[in-house]
Amino acid sequence: MNVENSLRDEVLRLKKERDAVILAHYYQQGEIQDVADFIGDSLALAQIARTLPNKVIVMCGVHFMGETAKILCPDKTVLVPDPAAGCSLADSCSADEFEAFIKEHPGYTVVSYVNTSAAVKALTDVVVTSSNARKVVESLPGDAKIIFGPDRNLGNYINSVTGREMLLWDGACHVHEQFSLEKLLELKKEYPDALVLAHPECKKPLLLVADKVGSTKALLDFAKTSEAKRFIVVTESGILHQMRKECPDKEFIPAPPEEAGCACNNCSFMKLNTMEKLRDCLRDLSPAIEVDPEIAAKAVRPIERMLSLS
Ligand code: 13P
Ligand code: SF4
Repeated sequence: MNVENSLRDEVLRLKKERDAVILAHYYQQGEIQDVADFIGDSLALAQIARTLPNKVIVMCGVHFMGETAKILCPDKTVLVPDPAAGCSLADSCSADEFEAFIKEHPGYTVVSYVNTSAAVKALTDVVVTSSNARKVVESLPGDAKIIFGPDRNLGNYINSVTGREMLLWDGACHVHEQFSLEKLLELKKEYPDALVLAHPECKKPLLLVADKVGSTKALLDFAKTSEAKRFIVVTESGILHQMRKECPDKEFIPAPPEEAGCACNNCSFMKLNTMEKLRDCLRDLSPAIEVDPEIAAKAVRPIERMLSLS
């Protein structure tokens, strides 16, 4: 048996022994996606987490995803294979600064993207993901004054599709900000039949040329049901694994980053999780995610509100 197979077998054996379930985000390494019980976008992973009977949830994703699962399932052990798997977007919004920003704008409803720390969620009225941001914002009264954080690109996009004028926190994701419009247009010229799929964390000029803007799951679903045979994918490269697996007869071309030859369309945080670390966390039941109970009690409300609207 080769090393890869024996590692996979070990993970599956430990998963059973620990009564664990493995959830994976689409940006995880392919081999982790292949061993997962469920693969999803941020919304689907949160929705699934709270329906599971298992004692242990392994969240193969980044820290805020593990935190969200722990807040929703406080009695379960929630593991993230590498606790250093953070998120540059979540890091662009500290709870202290966000609180000061909210205080400067009394009377505003606070909408936060799920890519935030539990402490930021605790300051929030309603959480959104890229799947439901439009729906949640549209559910708020038309005259509501809204603060949206931390992603300025998603916020701008939601403003443009809803006609709202939400006040935006000035944060961004280092992966999605680096795609080059110029190079995307060149690629479109080279493949005129290709449809462009883009995540709303990308900058506006890229979203304007996209045929579909949506969450990772929405982009995958679009590719599966579209008649087109070729797609240019403007999001993190991990999604290509599932797209190619589920649509073997279609071609998926990663959009080029600004800097030639760099692997900038890889989220370095997402890729910190490896099969070895997945095996180790199941073996040791560590590192486990813990959330301060006071913060969790406040953060659960805007998350539940989002789930009830989704
Ligand atoms: P999705 O909710 O679309 O999966 O996005 C999560 C994310 O971190 C995008 O960078
Ligand atoms: Fe965060 Fe960007 Fe990585 Fe998504 S791709 S987890 S937003 S750093």
